[in-house]
Amino acid sequence: MGGPKTLDDVEPFLLNLFADRELLRLPFQDVLGRFIAKRRSPKVRALYDAIGGGSPILHWSNTQGQGLIERLDALSPETAPHKFYVSFRYVAPFSDDAVLAMKADGITRAVALSMYPQYSCTTTGSSLNELWRALDRHGLRDAFQWSLIDRWPTHPGFVRSVAQQVREGLKQYAPSERDNVLLMFSAHSLPLSVIERGDAYPQEVGATVERVMEVLGARNPHMLTYQSEVGPVRWLGPSTETMIRRLASDKRKNVLVVPVAFTSDHIETLSEVDIEYGELAHELGLHGFKRAPSLNDSPMFLDALADLVHTHMQSGQAHHTRYREKCPGCRNPSCRTMPTAVVEPALVRAVA
Ligand code: FES
Repeated sequence: MGGPKTLDDVEPFLLNLFADRELLRLPFQDVLGRFIAKRRSPKVRALYDAIGGGSPILHWSNTQGQGLIERLDALSPETAPHKFYVSFRYVAPFSDDAVLAMKADGITRAVALSMYPQYSCTTTGSSLNELWRALDRHGLRDAFQWSLIDRWPTHPGFVRSVAQQVREGLKQYAPSERDNVLLMFSAHSLPLSVIERGDAYPQEVGATVERVMEVLGARNPHMLTYQSEVGPVRWLGPSTETMIRRLASDKRKNVLVVPVAFTSDHIETLSEVDIEYGELAHELGLHGFKRAPSLNDSPMFLDALADLVHTHMQSGQAHHTRYREKCPGCRNPSCRTMPTAVVEPALVRAVA
């Protein structure tokens, strides 16, 4: 999705977001989407102001991209040098910027790597659809040989990296309390209409959580909750906020929020969890409410990203087997397509 770099980017970001029918379907979307975006803009500006005047997601995306290619060059010298391009959905650099830069740099082979570990048609699916549309807009559909890493919810290195961040987060508590801290894995919510269409997201987020708990030895109580609901539709729950209220009323003392579907800090961690939910928890007497650090530039996570891409290139797979399985309720002809110049498995093996 990206995030507004400056406060002046907030309204255009929201207008693009609420106009995206692959993310969110609203009645009379052109009118209602603009109305919601404009009405929310001052409030959202204030939120970005409180976290330093903009989203750090471009900084973290560039840091992760650089860490990834440095490691990949070492792991796979035969396909080096590698380059990375950041492609956001609602704010620059857009897919158009990325594909034009790739063409200018003489790139011919490309791996589209979703930075969402768990697949949803609203996030990874929508972003890939937009990437392919950007190729068409610039006459570049046949310019690159593509393969996809569209989901990686149980990649062992990713799972170990999240477990490591949980251990770091637990250090904020006294050693005698750590085993009883409730781990609240919090993921971005989705409209229920998306789930009812057949979206794989809740299963994949659940799979990540269970693997992380296995790595941790499952000593701590844990739950999976969903945050960031907005707009007049029904959302996947249980909501993080509702659970904070319930845990406080149950006199629970220590709760560690673990961002499980975000790979770097942005407004949902720095503002929504740390400030909004943090203040709520303290008002309600839940004084041991804390958050595990985001993955950001964790060396273990950067190693995991490099392994993910390296293993993918060696596998010869053009995409995950599930990529071609459309949601049973999907009526969008743009979904799950690939450019015609997709890398064939045999060709990838020859390169690897
Ligand atoms: Fe899921 Fe189209 S909405 S494949």
